Amino acid sequence: MKLTHTPLIIGNWKMNPQSLLVATSLAKEVLKEVSRVQHVDVGIAPPSIFLESVAALTKGKKLKVVAQNVFHEGLGARTGEISLPMLKSINVAASIIGHSERRALGETNEDTNKKMLAIVKSGGTAILCVGEKERDQHGNYLSFVEQELRDALEDFPKAKLAQLVVAYEPIWAIGTGNTATPHDALEMKLFIQKLLSDLYGRPSLAKVRILYGGSVSKQNAAELLVDGHADGFLVGGASLRSAEFGEIVKIAERHVRDSI
Ligand code: PGA
Repeated sequence: MKLTHTPLIIGNWKMNPQSLLVATSLAKEVLKEVSRVQHVDVGIAPPSIFLESVAALTKGKKLKVVAQNVFHEGLGARTGEISLPMLKSINVAASIIGHSERRALGETNEDTNKKMLAIVKSGGTAILCVGEKERDQHGNYLSFVEQELRDALEDFPKAKLAQLVVAYEPIWAIGTGNTATPHDALEMKLFIQKLLSDLYGRPSLAKVRILYGGSVSKQNAAELLVDGHADGFLVGGASLRSAEFGEIVKIAERHVRDSI
């Protein structure tokens, strides 16, 4: 079956590794792993303190550097925060927004929306994370994700949808080894597509990649791509192992080749 999107795979390093030295060597290893990849977009999201060094290493290369979070204001008395102009000044043009680990620290849907609007205004790309805490039998998880998505996208302009990526990350699957089944992942992808189509019209679906995240590994990547129809992945733990991350990217590359 012909693919609708170029797969996108982003490694979310979270609060790892412990030093700049290890971060730059991990970035170099990842660069080597993905150097021959042609049909997959690849990014890594190091902690903000390492962004500049990693961005300098990957400058002009296919590997994109992504922030894990950003504040919606540009300048001022906001101790501990990082702004979009700061990211732009070191050539970082994309950010993960609304990761469940940020939400667990108190980030609300309203905060997420402010970040989405700021990033789209700055010309950058937002990787918006949504996902339920648990899957209940009554389907409440669907309305939970719907609310997260609708709130995050309030006033997000249709003309800027190319700057949006959605990552479905069920919280119960993050860091647990309990990956969503391809069926579960596909069900949610279709649900998110239906919401996007209601909000922006069907042609909008061609612009937005819907990734899956939550215990993605080299063992489950192929089935999530083939049967789950994921447009790519947000990879946490496995992205800290360059060989495994590289393997996941290569699995996606083979998936594209098989689909041509
Ligand atoms: P995980 O994390 O792959 O370690 O489950 C995914 C994420 O939180 O983005």
